[in-house]
Amino acid sequence: MKICVLLGSPRKNGNTNALVKPFVERLDEKGHNCVLINLYDLELNSCIACRKCQKDWIGFGCHYNDDVHKIFDQIMICDVFVLATPIYSWYCTPPMKIVLDRLVYDMNKYYGDEIGPALWEGKTVALITTCGYKPQSGADLWEEGVRRYCKHSKLIYYSMLVERHLGYKSIFMDEEKDSHARIFADTLIAQIQKSNE
Ligand SMILES: Cc1cc2nc3c(=O)[nH]c(=O)nc-3n(C[C@H](O)[C@H](O)[C@H](O)COP(=O)(O)O)c2cc1C
Repeated sequence: MKICVLLGSPRKNGNTNALVKPFVERLDEKGHNCVLINLYDLELNSCIACRKCQKDWIGFGCHYNDDVHKIFDQIMICDVFVLATPIYSWYCTPPMKIVLDRLVYDMNKYYGDEIGPALWEGKTVALITTCGYKPQSGADLWEEGVRRYCKHSKLIYYSMLVERHLGYKSIFMDEEKDSHARIFADTLIAQIQKSNE
């Protein structure tokens, strides 16, 4: 299985990356191929709605030749991609939002003169999230947004692993969260294997 993880936290040693680590370790242990992309290291330009991408029904086609092209290519060859982000103002961080906006156009050729294909149709999406409030009021809008994004884009939404950060004076990572991340990796893979049977 090929998994692409988009890391959307500005804190390299922060909570979200700490939660992603055991998830990726588990996938590696099981022999899966995991690619990690740190969005804060990349050049990412916001969509300007020029719709150049809509004239190309088989590829990227974007006006920008920035690092979204690399993300596009990785997603096209993966089975599942994971959006890993802390919650900022009830949604994802800015570079993750840029990538979502860019890909909803670069991948979905719905917005030209005629309706075309969704190039990433059938791929699975999972979320790894950390937030300060209780998950049901901290991460709910993000999850709902991604659910709709997936439905619109013919993607298969899997589920969200979400853990709460109780404040900068408390230690975020513990054995329980580590175990949740490993179980999330196992159940995600099992679900995809089942749907491929
Ligand atoms: C600018 C900013 C906005 C935040 N907004 C929210 C929010 O709307 N809801 C929430 O539950 N937590 C919010 N938080 C808390 C973070 O989601 C939480 O601390 C997270 O675990 C940080 O992850 P990181 O260490 O990977 O950056 C916010 C934090 C920052 C810095």
